[in-house]
This record gives sequence, structure tokens and C-alpha cells, in this order.
Amino acid sequence: MEIIKGIAQLKSLVAQAREAKKSIGLVPTMGALHAGHISLVNRCVAENEVCVVSVFVNPTQFNDKSDLAAYPRTPEQDAAMLEKAGCDIVFMPEVEEMYPEPDTRQFAFGALEQVMEGPYRPGHFNGVAQIVSKLFYAVEPDLAYFGEKDFQQVAIIREMVKQLQLPVKIVSCPIVREADGLAMSSRNQRLNEEERKKSVLISKYLFESRTFAGEKSLAETKAFVEENIGKVDIFRLDYFEIVDGYTLQPVKNWEDADYVVGCIAVFCGPVRLIDNIIYKS
Ligand code: PAJ
Repeated sequence: MEIIKGIAQLKSLVAQAREAKKSIGLVPTMGALHAGHISLVNRCVAENEVCVVSVFVNPTQFNDKSDLAAYPRTPEQDAAMLEKAGCDIVFMPEVEEMYPEPDTRQFAFGALEQVMEGPYRPGHFNGVAQIVSKLFYAVEPDLAYFGEKDFQQVAIIREMVKQLQLPVKIVSCPIVREADGLAMSSRNQRLNEEERKKSVLISKYLFESRTFAGEKSLAETKAFVEENIGKVDIFRLDYFEIVDGYTLQPVKNWEDADYVVGCIAVFCGPVRLIDNIIYKS
């Protein structure tokens, strides 16, 4: 496994692989890797002859600078996990390498960015598109892997690929959870004992809502989750939306879309957690 810090070096390694007619897969990450990330890497290794993983805490997607400062960084541990997973190339650049000058590009994702995370994290998806497009230009992967944990992010990336007409196929991978159901996240490390214990209620209510979603109306299902989350003293709900999985726009009735997903963002103490559940696909 090669660990690389420069774009030029990355491009020349990838060019060698492409000349040898090898397929190239990319998994973009911000490090502090856990089993959720590794599930993407496993899939990338299985489906491509060369697996590239980027580890870069991208400043332009953090609208809250204290969140950026608090973001966990564990490069040695990440490299060890990636080596074990069979990754071929790890790209770990410094900020100056990715942003030698400020990235002034403004993407427009329309309705996709006006819902859910959009209003709560202004500029976030623009920053994600900036860094992911730079990574796509550098690696030119055949396939790129993203987790459904960040459901809206996958839709935004697919739209960006369309707008820029990039020849990459986006592969979305299911959420990996802790044994008790909590969606794995680098942010989970920041939960104290009480917060960690209660955080399980997020996935619990999502799963419970799915068991009766067929019998109850969409509005009742939405109210069930909102009311139960509202009863937990250390939770503060940002949103729970039941949306069309393609357009991300809220749906009113189960019959209104073929692909229906419930997406939630909730503060558990000081830590903002997101999760989602597929009701219909
Ligand atoms: P990061 O939060 O490090 O996540 C990297 C990838 O791992 C994302 O595609 C995310 O959806 C996926 N992932 C995280 N937790 C997961 C889980 N529990 N199950 C399945 N997949 C999971 O998302 C980002 O970084 C950044 O925005 C990035 C795309 C790298 C751009 O900077």
C-alpha cells in the first residue's frame, strides 16, 4: 500500500494503473475510520483492480469552524486499517495541496440542497462538491463509493456528476450500525456515557416506525418519530422528513413515490447525529 501526499504523484500512479488497463475505484473519506468506512473500502477492493482511498478533512464543507477543529484525526490508525482492508493507494494531502488558492466555484443543486441538511448547514454541500470534484479530476475513477448514511450527500454527488459530465459511476452502500443499532459515525466518539446510551433511541424509533409504516398513514408515522424523539431529555430534533429517495422532496402519502426514505438529524447533547431508514424501495 502506498501513502501519498501530492496530487502529481497520485496522478502518475493512477496513470500507470490505467495504462495497464486496470479498473480504478475511489473511496473519499475524512478519516477517523470505522467499520462503516471499511465496508465501502471492502466493496471497492472487491470490484476494482486498484482501490484508492482519500483521507482529508475538507475545511470548505464545515460551516462551523469549531466543528472542524474538533473533528477527530487518526492518520496512523487509518493507514493500518486501510492496509488490512487491501487498499492499494491512500491519498492523505495537506490543505495547501487541495486548495493552493481558494476554491471560488459555486455549485447549484436546486431543490436537492434546499431541504434537510441544506438549510441547517449553509455551504456544506458546495464544499463537498468542491472537494469530491477535485478528487474525481485527480483520480478519474471508474467507480466511486459513498455511504447511504449521508443520504442527501449521495444525491448531491450524483447530480454533480451529471452537471460536470464526469465518466464515473456512483455506488451507494448501506448504513453500517453498531450492535445496538446506532449508525456508525466518527462523531460517536464524542458522546459521553449517557449520550451514547440514549443515542440508540434514534435508530430504535426509526426501526419501530418501519414496522407499522404499512398500516399507519405517512403523517402518523412522521408524528410517531417526532413525538418519541421529542420525549428524550437530551435530544433536540433538527428535522425528521419522509422524502422521495430520488428528489429528496417531502412526500405526503406512501403511494406518492416508489422510493420513500425517512431522514433524521438530532442533537444528542452537543453532538449532531444523522440517520435514515428506507420505508419503500
Ligand atoms: P466521511 O464522513 O468520512 O464519510 C466517508 C464515507 O463513508 C461517506 O460516503 C459516508 O457516507 C460513509 N459512511 C460514514 N459512516 C457510514 C456508515 N455508518 N455506514 C456506511 N457508510 C458510512 O462523507 C464524508 O466523509 C465527506 O463529506 C466526503 C465525501 C469525504 C467529502 O469530504
